[in-house]
Parts: sequence; C-alpha cells; structure tokens
Amino acid sequence: MMPKELQVDLQRKIAEAEHPREMAIDVMVALQTHYGYLSDEALRQGAALLGMTTVELEELATFYEFIFREPVGKYVIHVCDGIVCWMNGHQSVMDYLSAKLGIRPGQTTPDGLFTLLPVCCIGYCDRSPAMLVNRIAYGPLTLGRIDDILQRLEERGSPPRQDRP
Ligand code: FES
Repeated sequence: MMPKELQVDLQRKIAEAEHPREMAIDVMVALQTHYGYLSDEALRQGAALLGMTTVELEELATFYEFIFREPVGKYVIHVCDGIVCWMNGHQSVMDYLSAKLGIRPGQTTPDGLFTLLPVCCIGYCDRSPAMLVNRIAYGPLTLGRIDDILQRLEERGSPPRQDRP
C-alpha cells in the first residue's frame, strides 16, 4: 500500500509538470524505492496517478534498465558489457562476480543482498572494465578491487532505502 505522504508528494509533482507523462520515470523510481521493485500493484498505482494505462506504463518500465519488474537484491550490480569494457575484461569481471556470489547474471543471492545484471555502456569507458552498484560507478575493476567493494558492501549490510536500486 502506498503511504499517503508518498501519494500526495507524487500527485503534487505530477500537477506541477507541464505534461503528467513526463513524470512517468520519476513516479516509477519513487514507487520502486518504496516497494523495492516495481510490483504489479505499484505499476497500477503509478499508471492511475499519471492518467496512463498500465500497459502504457509497462512499456516504459521494460524499456529502462533501472526499473525492476521483479524483486532485486539490496545491491544491484550492473556489469558493463559495452564494447570497450568487453575488450578490457568484461567477461572475467562477470565470471568472477558470478563465482564469488554464487549466482548467474539475472539472479539474486539467496540472502537477498546482491543481484547481478549486465548493462550497456555506462559512460565510464576511460575506466573500463566498469560496473555500477546501485547506480554508483566503479572502475577500472581488478579482481582485488571487486573483492574490496563486495567486502565493504557485505559489512555495510542493507543500504538505507534512499540508496537502494
Ligand atoms: S563500454 Fe563500459 S563504460 Fe563504456
């Protein structure tokens, strides 16, 4: 259930926009931050707020890499598979993360902490191979640096809600 405070805030932002639909991504991100992912219920609520059909909003949701229609971990790791990262070791980064976390790309660790996904170029080509963790960029990656990053995240545990994917 969407908290009244969030609903009022989103309604205000939509009302201030020139065209309600221009707020579609903001609304989906806000609902995703609240629910942890864009659930069917959240999609329906967002569509209703925006005056769109759920199909129209779903089309947008599935277009964006950072809107999740299924539950994800507290930390979403997007490993860049753009051409520069591909040439500079993308596969070894992905393989190493898969082995360390015990999951394949597209999966979430059983403890719900990490989700591993590929992503196209994140604009970090000069520091490739690169990845995002909850939209924060890291690179150039080495296996040692990946170890450090994962260790820090594991020690930190769950991030605050506003820092979640
Ligand atoms: S190709 Fe990976 S950051 Fe550009």
